[in-house]
Amino acid sequence: MFEHVKAIPPDPILGLIAAHAADSNPKKIDLGIGVYRDEQGNTPMLDCVVKAEKILLETQTTKTYLGPPGVVGFNQAISALILGADNSALREGRVRTVQTPGGTGALRVGADLIHTVSPETEVWASDPTWANHLALFPGAGVTLHSYPYYDAETSSLRFEAMIEALQQRGPGDIVLFHACCHNPSGISPDPEQWQVIADTASARGFTPMVDIAYMGLERGVEEDCLAIRLFSEQCPELIFASSCSKNFAMYRERAGAITVVAEDSQKAAALESIIHNITRKNYSMPPAHGPAVVDIILHDDALKAQWLAELKVMRNRINGLRKTLSEKIAASGIQRDFSFIARQSGMFSFMGLSVEQVHRLRDEFAIYTVNSARVNVASFNESNMDYFIEALAAVLDE
Ligand SMILES: Cc1ncc(COP(=O)(O)O)c(C=O)c1O
Repeated sequence: MFEHVKAIPPDPILGLIAAHAADSNPKKIDLGIGVYRDEQGNTPMLDCVVKAEKILLETQTTKTYLGPPGVVGFNQAISALILGADNSALREGRVRTVQTPGGTGALRVGADLIHTVSPETEVWASDPTWANHLALFPGAGVTLHSYPYYDAETSSLRFEAMIEALQQRGPGDIVLFHACCHNPSGISPDPEQWQVIADTASARGFTPMVDIAYMGLERGVEEDCLAIRLFSEQCPELIFASSCSKNFAMYRERAGAITVVAEDSQKAAALESIIHNITRKNYSMPPAHGPAVVDIILHDDALKAQWLAELKVMRNRINGLRKTLSEKIAASGIQRDFSFIARQSGMFSFMGLSVEQVHRLRDEFAIYTVNSARVNVASFNESNMDYFIEALAAVLDE
């Protein structure tokens, strides 16, 4: 049976990690993988997480299966946090949340749900979008199209073209959005633009699906949930996939959730039963540890306040790095305008380099980034930024 199998090329990001690890250059920089890093280049655990883990270890009494919904307190807390505790859909019992293995698990369960309830439904995602969206939806049998989003010439949002494309969508279509910290472009609609997008969804009748993987890392927890809250007020149906990987720094614990908002509570309950059926056939039950930790934090005022403070430190560091990097590039004598870096948010920005320039960064300077020249801004620090700018000037021939 395995006679004819051939290896497929590794995921470009995983290939970069391996190449960076094997590089002996002491100045090497990994700008590829999407994890937060502190000034020392580490991805530390949050103190609130360490404290909650201690509480969990002292209080848990069993390791028996969780049951299909996962950690129920986590589901309740994460949906209330994202939608806002006084959300009308929540009050009306039109919301159901099921814990999944990470945000990727949530997206896959969401894609399976779409394919199960409406096999002819197709999804429109931003151009560009997270590379895994491109694999994950077709992997679930859902056709993926794109709508205009990023203008490489101006490093900004193609808002008018985007709205024009969304006006072509209608009932039965799903449009996928990133709630904040758009991966890979770093560009988000501003609050007024989100309002126009929500008005368009409501007028045209398509169903919004929102990927919220970086909540709290753009402007703040409340602010970063704006799109989902607007959709939940203006549209009868909504799907969102949330992740606690980045904002709780719990990457490997795989804490995520899929949430559906339906027209009425019966439809919401029916959707929940279908999600349970999908996960049962797939991985049966979700893992407990990560979501149990988030459950403890979000139900404890002191731990929640500490989490918000730790999240703010990460957010401020990323935004500070964006400002410093764009100022230092401008001061270095490089003529090309990189001021967009400071106007964007989240971990990623496109540097606008050719594949050849990306390869020169890697081969001549041990600076690793994906071929699209998307960089993880959180990988910079005081000791590597000047070296990066020197290398950038060299590959730009400036
Ligand atoms: C846009 C986007 N969505 C979802 C995820 C999924 O995160 P995870 O599965 O690690 O929770 C990521 C992670 O990089 C992401 O960038």
